[in-house]
Amino acid sequence: MAEILPETEALDRALQLLRAGEAIAIPTETVYGLAADATNGEAVARIFEAKRRPRFNPLIAHVSGLEMAERHAVFDPLSRRLAQHFWPGPLTLVLPLRPDSAVHPLVTAGLDTLALRCPRGFASRLIAALGHPLAAPSANSSGRVSATTAAHVEAGMGERIPLIVDGGPTPVGLESTIVKVEGEALRLLRPGGVAAEEIEAVAGRPVTRADGGAIEAPGMMRSHYAPNARLRLDATDVRPGEALLAFGPVRARGAGDAVATVNLSPDGDLREAAAQLFAALQELDATGAASIAAEPVPMDGLGEAINDRLDRAAAPRDNAGGRP
Ligand code: TXA
Ligand code: MG
Repeated sequence: MAEILPETEALDRALQLLRAGEAIAIPTETVYGLAADATNGEAVARIFEAKRRPRFNPLIAHVSGLEMAERHAVFDPLSRRLAQHFWPGPLTLVLPLRPDSAVHPLVTAGLDTLALRCPRGFASRLIAALGHPLAAPSANSSGRVSATTAAHVEAGMGERIPLIVDGGPTPVGLESTIVKVEGEALRLLRPGGVAAEEIEAVAGRPVTRADGGAIEAPGMMRSHYAPNARLRLDATDVRPGEALLAFGPVRARGAGDAVATVNLSPDGDLREAAAQLFAALQELDATGAASIAAEPVPMDGLGEAINDRLDRAAAPRDNAGGRP
């Protein structure tokens, strides 16, 4: 059962757990977040495990300020102006990921963009003390409403995390607004805690919404990494010219002839496999092999999310669904 500490007493304990690779619940001004060190893949995998999230959606990386943010993403002038005006606060910016960023690919779901936000209060002090961004989705079980009190977090996932930092009810109570600058356009990916009109006033231009007002950010096919190679799922053999995405101690037939092999987890550990997944797909894709044979991954625990990602990466694509 999670320990619950008031935020005035929680900083040292929270830091200790984050440095040990744990995921903990923390208050932000919008909703409670389930936070882990964004540079530690296994720690980030624990987030998906605790949320029982059957998919690896890209997560927001929370920073202590603009300086930390610029170490991980490339800011255009308009994004920088929005950050200077709205941070700390409920605005998330999607920006090109810097190639030298230490943020783990599980945070971006393998994308070449990164969602960044600087929260207020305890979260920001914690991030500054850690010195790394915190990946944090809302601290609710997948498919449930976002938690706005420590009690709500406890009821939803108290048995699966070691610490809940209690900062009282969150003042905004609604997730952050997500925007992305694309050339001259400023696109609204998710409405949230900052009104579009406030953003337009600072930006000096209108925000554009997806056709029909659809919310574009969550789980969109197009926002997910897809390899150039064809992916052949549940492979029990390796065919000529194929690369091999292996899992566990037992190899598919013909594995010795694979043009390249990456094992997600030789011991069959699903948390390790989740942490390796996007980097492994990218590494095998970079060999130029036309097809990647993927060994079966069990469906229990994080296996469901791993298989969901593999299914999406294997799905036939139209023009909108290719590599971002
Ligand atoms: O207020 C909030 O934003 C809260 C607190 C904890 O900060 N966090 C939150 O995270 O709502 P989550 O994981 O529930 O939602 C993050 C959203 C998802 O819809 C995801 O698709 C989108 O951000 N997202 C993350 N990275 C993205 C990217 N590179 N491009 C487009 N959308 C992205
Ligand atoms: Mg959420």
